[in-house]
Amino acid sequence: MKYGLILLTVLAFEQLTSGLENGLARKPPMGWMSWERYRCITDCRKYPDECISERLFKRMADLLVSEGYLAAGYNYVNIDDCWSTMERDSEGRLVADPERFPNGMKHLADYIHSKGLQFGLYQDIGTKTCAGYPGMKDYFEIDAQTLADWDVDFIKIDGCYADETKMVEDYVLFGELMNRTGRPMLYSCSWPVYQEYKGIIPDYEILKQTCNMWRNWGDIEDSHSSVESITKYFSDNQKRIQPHSGPGHWNDPDTLILGNYGLSYDQSKSQLAVWTVLAAPLLLSNDLASVKPEIRELLLNREIIAVNQDPLGIQGQLLKTVNRIEIWKRPILPKVKHEMTHAIAFVSRRADGAPYAIRVKLFEDLELSNASDVKGYLVYDLFNTALKPIFLRADASFETRINPTGANFYRFVPQFDNIIRGFNDLRS
Ligand code: GLA
Repeated sequence: MKYGLILLTVLAFEQLTSGLENGLARKPPMGWMSWERYRCITDCRKYPDECISERLFKRMADLLVSEGYLAAGYNYVNIDDCWSTMERDSEGRLVADPERFPNGMKHLADYIHSKGLQFGLYQDIGTKTCAGYPGMKDYFEIDAQTLADWDVDFIKIDGCYADETKMVEDYVLFGELMNRTGRPMLYSCSWPVYQEYKGIIPDYEILKQTCNMWRNWGDIEDSHSSVESITKYFSDNQKRIQPHSGPGHWNDPDTLILGNYGLSYDQSKSQLAVWTVLAAPLLLSNDLASVKPEIRELLLNREIIAVNQDPLGIQGQLLKTVNRIEIWKRPILPKVKHEMTHAIAFVSRRADGAPYAIRVKLFEDLELSNASDVKGYLVYDLFNTALKPIFLRADASFETRINPTGANFYRFVPQFDNIIRGFNDLRS
C-alpha cells in the first residue's frame, strides 16, 4: 500500500513535469494573436485603436464573443511581443507597461476569463524578445511563477537572442518550471524555426515531449506570396515534419491573415484550406472589427473547422501537383468500415486569367480506395455547405474548376451500400 502510494506520487510528479502530459491542445488551438496585424505598435497617442494595450485585447475579446468566433471554437486571446516595460522591477519580475496596461496583466486575464476566453502571453528564451524587450534568460523560475500568478493559459516562447545550439535545454527547463507552478499552460515553442535557419534539424522527440505546438518556419506577412512560401516549406519538408504533429503537439505554420489587407477572397480560401489540411493551429491575426462579412463567413465555416479539429489530428500532405494545381489530402473521421474519410483541397498556383478546370480519377489520382466493397464516395463541397453532396463511383473521375490563386475544398466520404449514407450531420 505504502509503495503503491509512493509509486502514484512518483507517477503524478512525472506527469506534472512533462509538457506533453499537461493535457492541453488535444486539438489544434484556435484563437486570436496580435503580432501579424499589430506588430509592435506602442504609440497609443497616435494609434489608440492599434497599440499593444489592454484596450486592444479587451476589444478583441469582446469581438471574439459578439461576432461568433468563440462559439465556433476560437477561444484564446494572445498577446505577442511588446507588452512589457524595458526593465524588470526591483525584484526581477516582469512588468506590464503601466501606460498601456494600466490595470496590470492579472486584471486583463480576469476580463478575458470572464468572457469565457483563455489568456495567452509572449516571452523569449534568450536575453531579449525579438523586439528588444527583456527576455527570460536567468529569470526562468521567477517568470514561470509570474505567468502562473497572472493566470496565463498559453505561452509563446520565442527564440531571439539565444544560442541555437543550447536553447533546447532552456526550453525543456522552462517547461518543467511552468509545470511545477501547477498551472497548466499551453506551451508554444519557437526553437525549430531558429534551428532550421542555422541548418540544424530539430530533435522532434524532445519537441513533442516538451511543447504543445511549435513554429517550424518564418513569420507570416500580409501577402499571398508569404502564405505560398510557408506552404512550400510545409510541402517540401512534409516527410520529415508531418509524422511529429498530432494531438497535444502541433506543427505551426503561423497565424491566419484572413481579414487583413493582403489576401483576396480566393486567396483567403487558399490559406484556410491549406491550414486546415495541415491540422494547423487557427490563430487569427486581424482586426476583428473590420473583417468583411464574406471573410468572416469563411472563418466561421463549421464544416471546415470540424475538419481542422478532427480528433485524430493527422496532418495532411501535398499529394501531387497537376498543371500547377496542388492537391492536398488529409485523412479524417469518420472511418467507414476500413476506409477513412478524406478532406481534399485543390490549391491553385495559377494566375492566368480564367478559372482552371482539372479532372482527376478518384483511385489513380486522388489515391482513394477502390476496394471491391467500396461502392463510391459522397463528395461534400466545404466552401458551399448549402449544396447537397454528390455521389461518385470509386472508378469515376471528379472535375473541379479553381479560380486563379484560389482553392476548392471537399470532403470525400466512403460509401459501402447502394443506399447512400453520409456524414451529413451538418447538412441534414
Ligand atoms: C519573431 C516571431 C514572431 C513575433 C515576433 C515578435 O519574429 O517569429 O512571430 O513573435 O518575433 O517580435
